[in-house]
Amino acid sequence: MIRKAVIPAAGMGTRFLPFAKAQPKEMLPIVDQPVIQYVVEEAVEAGITDILIIIGRGKRAIEEHFDRNFELEAGLEAKGRTEELEAIRRVSNLADIHFIWQKELNGLGDAVRHARHHVNNEPFLLLLGDTLIQSPTSLCRRLMEVYERYGESVVALEAVDPAKVGLYGVIQGRSIGDGLHLVEDLVEKPPPGEAPSNLAIASRYVLSPRIFDYLERTPRGKGNEIQLTDAMRLMVRDVAIYGVTLDGRRHDIGNKLDFLKTNVLYGLRREDLSVEFRAFLADVIRDAGTPAH
Ligand code: UTP
Repeated sequence: MIRKAVIPAAGMGTRFLPFAKAQPKEMLPIVDQPVIQYVVEEAVEAGITDILIIIGRGKRAIEEHFDRNFELEAGLEAKGRTEELEAIRRVSNLADIHFIWQKELNGLGDAVRHARHHVNNEPFLLLLGDTLIQSPTSLCRRLMEVYERYGESVVALEAVDPAKVGLYGVIQGRSIGDGLHLVEDLVEKPPPGEAPSNLAIASRYVLSPRIFDYLERTPRGKGNEIQLTDAMRLMVRDVAIYGVTLDGRRHDIGNKLDFLKTNVLYGLRREDLSVEFRAFLADVIRDAGTPAH
């Protein structure tokens, strides 16, 4: 059974400057909740009880978000604000949450390497801390089921626009039915035209603890960083890796346009906001069609 999840959230966030200069991009709000809280909830909903978040310099707000704030709780209690009180208490009781520091930002592979001691020879769910998944069924549960069936690592896959493959880790593989792929090779950010497919690794994984041995042997790759995709490329020469196609949408909040779109999509789903928000959007769209004064 998979009990542990790892969430890397140490990255610099250069695509979201100047906001990310002194604030973690994982604390960007989607409506009224930071991105990382949705990611933690996604793991908890899949049955995870123990979460390790990898943070770095300037990321303390993430720790504080999951800690208790007794002063705030007392203030809300005194004012009878029970709804808000419940919401903030829930955040600190979501799971058993641990933190570790990646002191030098040497890439996603290096961040994952920091989890070795904590996951301690167990398979684990890996969720990138700046990416949300909207799916009618739990993608994480599906990845965990596939791991339990085959006993080997599994990655989520998303078919992306072929012109954009250079932004992702991409697989070469073959379909084995039932939405499953057998991965044959993986390439990090291939130049357009050289990608083996348009199936991109979609920010959710279940990894066997064997990955740590491969990470130790992985040289620096794209961007002079230790890439998780390169470690998996070494691993797939020895053991099988499976792919599960994502039935839904992936939102990369580290990307400004995705951040804006995701706020619109999540805002429209909110019962307390959707009526007024929808009317506002309709006005904006109508006005966009008329010349500015
Ligand atoms: P990104 O590719 O989004 O990189 O990382 P980044 O540095 O965070 O952002 P940009 O590209 O400069 O805008 C993917 C995931 O890996 C984590 C990030 O926090 C994010 O969840 N990461 C990346 C680390 O934890 N450590 C690293 O050294 C690099």
